[in-house]
Amino acid sequence: MKFRNLCLAVVGGSLASALPAMAQPAPGTPAGQTSHLDVNQLFATTCGWCHSDGGRVAGKGPQLMNTKRSDDFIRYRIEHGKEGAMPAFGSTFNDADIDKIIHYIRALKPEQP
Ligand code: HEC
Repeated sequence: MKFRNLCLAVVGGSLASALPAMAQPAPGTPAGQTSHLDVNQLFATTCGWCHSDGGRVAGKGPQLMNTKRSDDFIRYRIEHGKEGAMPAFGSTFNDADIDKIIHYIRALKPEQP
């Protein structure tokens, strides 16, 4: 019964992706997946350590799912951040990237159990 060890290795590997990796593809990511902005992965690695559970619940930052904020407000917050609370991402993302992020936030649904 050596299969058990295999399972443990897989669980251990997924821990690494919970860390705020800076633009480092996770080991085992198929080549070619990082050329386009993958908004799910981006959110998980860049925003997720403050906006928990993909933005579904509050963490260090507020919950983003079901936000009442306007697109303009969200865009402004992402571009400019908030002093002492959230970093500015205006030089990290272009307009199209931020459109994608806004779309991602608007499309958030409670996670299925
Ligand atoms: C270091 C922690 C941190 C990171 C990283 C972070 N945020 Fe935030 N974010 C915050 C905090 C704290 C606030 C609340 C700011 C305030 O007091 O108005 C916030 C506010 C926001 C808001 C406005 C929510 C509202 O209702 O006021 C949006 C939208 C948002 N963040 C999106 C993002 C996105 C997208 C990313 C990744 C690109 C990101 N944040 C990364 C901490 C963070």
